Amino acid sequence: MNENTTSNPTEPNHAKNRHFSRKWVTPFTLGAFALSAFTGILLFFKVHIGLIKPTHEWLSWLLVIAAVLHIMLNYHPLIKTLTQPLGKILMVVFALLIGVSLLPLGEQKEHGKDHRSYFVSKVEQHHGEEPHGEEH
Ligand code: HEM
Repeated sequence: MNENTTSNPTEPNHAKNRHFSRKWVTPFTLGAFALSAFTGILLFFKVHIGLIKPTHEWLSWLLVIAAVLHIMLNYHPLIKTLTQPLGKILMVVFALLIGVSLLPLGEQKEHGKDHRSYFVSKVEQHHGEEPHGEEH
């Protein structure tokens, strides 16, 4: 059977090509979510065994990529849903939460860290150095 054809009438035209199809984007999204959620929940409960942390930090990007592809594949139904009242309200709520998360209310401010020093310390940690300003 030709992979380019689909029996699903909601499949957008651009999704009918072999490289960009629900056949792999959907299981990819599910797998990436399972990986990120499983490792993230273990980290939440301070389970730092094996490669849980680096796996979570680096492979969670697969979830971001999967979500973008998932949104692209479902663009039209998504826009339709988001233009309904509940969709609009939830988008505003999450936009506000993103805004609030950026406010300087957390620990980072107390430790005198700015955005630059946060990323510098991440790079230093990656290279096995003592994070800048955290010598004991
Ligand atoms: C299913 C969703 C997710 C859950 C439940 C989750 C949960 C967590 C938790 C609990 C931690 C704290 C680990 C610790 O105690 O040190 C953490 C750290 C982290 N997460 Fe996630 N996460 C999720 C998705 C993501 C995604 C999508 C990304 C990025 C693409 C990401 C990147 C990171 C990074 C880089 C850290 C390390 C932060 C640091 O300690 O400097 N996570 N996550």
